[in-house]
Amino acid sequence: MSIQQNLNTLRYPVSNQPEKSPFNAGETMTEQSEKLNVLLLGSGGRECALAWKMSLSPRLEKLFIAPGNGGTGAYGENVNISPLDFKAIADFAADKGIDMIVVGNEDPLVAGIYDYFEAIEGAPVIVGPSKAGAALEGSKDFAKQFMVRHSIPTARYQSFTAETVEEGCKFLETLQAPYVLKADGLAAGKGVLIIDSLDEAKASLREMLGGMFGKSSATVVIEEFLKGIECSVFVLTDGNGGYRILPVAKDYKRIGEGDTGPNTGGMGAVSPVVFADKEFMRKVEERIILPTVNGLIAEGITYRGFIFLGLIEVNGEPMVIEYNVRMGDPETEVVMLRIASDLLPLLEAAARGNLGNMPLEEDPRYATTVMVVSGGYPGSYSKGEDITGADDPVGAILFHAGTKRNPDGTLITSGGRVIACSAYGKDIDEALAASYRAADTVSFDGKYMRRDIGQDLKKLAE
Ligand code: AMP
Ligand code: GLY
Repeated sequence: MSIQQNLNTLRYPVSNQPEKSPFNAGETMTEQSEKLNVLLLGSGGRECALAWKMSLSPRLEKLFIAPGNGGTGAYGENVNISPLDFKAIADFAADKGIDMIVVGNEDPLVAGIYDYFEAIEGAPVIVGPSKAGAALEGSKDFAKQFMVRHSIPTARYQSFTAETVEEGCKFLETLQAPYVLKADGLAAGKGVLIIDSLDEAKASLREMLGGMFGKSSATVVIEEFLKGIECSVFVLTDGNGGYRILPVAKDYKRIGEGDTGPNTGGMGAVSPVVFADKEFMRKVEERIILPTVNGLIAEGITYRGFIFLGLIEVNGEPMVIEYNVRMGDPETEVVMLRIASDLLPLLEAAARGNLGNMPLEEDPRYATTVMVVSGGYPGSYSKGEDITGADDPVGAILFHAGTKRNPDGTLITSGGRVIACSAYGKDIDEALAASYRAADTVSFDGKYMRRDIGQDLKKLAE
């Protein structure tokens, strides 16, 4: 399939094309030393951490978060606009003189927010890829083809549709258990099934192609199962060959201790990651980051934003499990702590295509985060529970995710993942102790957390 055909199969059309520029088109571009008005899109713990970090910048004039959550208001002003309502975002940006829009979550990127604003004269710059670049996350089939085209190490795979379901079953027979089935399109993090029995895998393939995840599973990627330990590598790229590698993190996806039970959005994270040492990162840069950054340029795909590499180490060798086109959550809640440099000028330079030699310094300390979640998550859970113990954390930073403020300022739960309790430490134990102290202080009915965040990395380090 050609790239273009592939893009046509994406779930989102380029929506609501701009009519005419609401911006002052004659205005000169902001000098890269002036103060910036920034609009951050999203409402999770990731956005709370990005807001915190940007709020520390001497280059920040004013930060708005749309729509934000019960914690982001501490770092800027929450505005009630959907990240998918591009027209409303453009009107707001014109009204407030926004210089830069930082896109936290993938949905607006896959829906083409970059292209929408690029077409408007005088519009703010966007931190995030074009719609074509966002296909790295929006279509797993496109991502796999891209990796094959650029010889980037990844699991062997084939893609199937309803017309080729029988071939899909035959392909499954050539693989060893467990079987990995992935919905091609976005499926709110639920589109990957890992199944032990061949018969069940065939049945699930039929169900997926029959609409289990709606249009997202009209194409299914079947791939070889890789055994190893995972980590998340984040790259900020300017689309002109300039890039910076951010501190490496590891997240904990399963709900249960010892990595058991269903997948979640992420139950905690740690940075740095002991096995992502110099030699491993050299291989990552050489075999994965460079071919990705250069491959995007070679294919004419504009990409000025974060590339999230979900990696797995197989016998010391890095392989790509997935691309995302945004920062990770809860990885951001530790990565932001470990960036010592001012983030805002780096984001602006990436968005303007000129990262140049701008340094990105790492904080040498450990950072950990422990997510407190609503009982029942990732299944059904209650909302609106009163939260106490979250307003004056000692020795930790609380990045809110699913929280909301009542008009009187009190806090209630509004999602599955509620608060990411982040902390520094001179070593992993010290950071974890501070994260858990904070997580134990936060209180609401049904609160749950994993108690084993970071323990696998501690064992590896022994
Ligand atoms: P993804 O949404 O592609 O990141 O997949 C979700 C999770 O499924 C990953 O973080 C891995 O833990 C697991 N996974 C995905 N693909 C593979 C694979 N080929 N081999 C082993 N585990 C996988
Ligand atoms: N923590 C994994 C993700 O953000 O997709």
